[in-house]
Amino acid sequence: MTASKRIVLSSDHAAIELRQAVADHIAAQGWEVVDIGPKMPESTHYPIHGKAAAQAVAAGDCHLGIVLCGTGQGIMMAANKVPGIRCGVCSDAFSARMIRAHNNANMLSIGARVVGEGQALDIVDAFLGTEFESGRHATRVDMIEEND
Ligand code: RB5
Repeated sequence: MTASKRIVLSSDHAAIELRQAVADHIAAQGWEVVDIGPKMPESTHYPIHGKAAAQAVAAGDCHLGIVLCGTGQGIMMAANKVPGIRCGVCSDAFSARMIRAHNNANMLSIGARVVGEGQALDIVDAFLGTEFESGRHATRVDMIEEND
């Protein structure tokens, strides 16, 4: 197992079941899954979980991260407040490929109340199966980073 295969997962209460499905799916592909999300279904606050997952990626403990909440939006916003994080919320596989290929996203966010499990796993596969194309896109990603 290489360090580049380590991925952090988290969510709020709205996405516990889907987070588990994602964890099982990517663990079966050989990823080392660091699941730091809540285990119990009690209501919790997505900013806490988005920030914690983002910090694991920003610190270099994990190469990539996946976060989930009801819409995927709130936890994505929280993750993106951590310097060095580029997190996109995706409801389709094309967007998930493009945030890796063009934006060098290091985190993916999914809305458990927006997409079903099958679609979510397709999105995850597209995200994890795509590399950053660099080239002209690197200039633009560097410009994002200058705003951190
Ligand atoms: C929780 O009810 C819900 O607001 C949260 O999961 C998320 O959708 C926020 O963006």
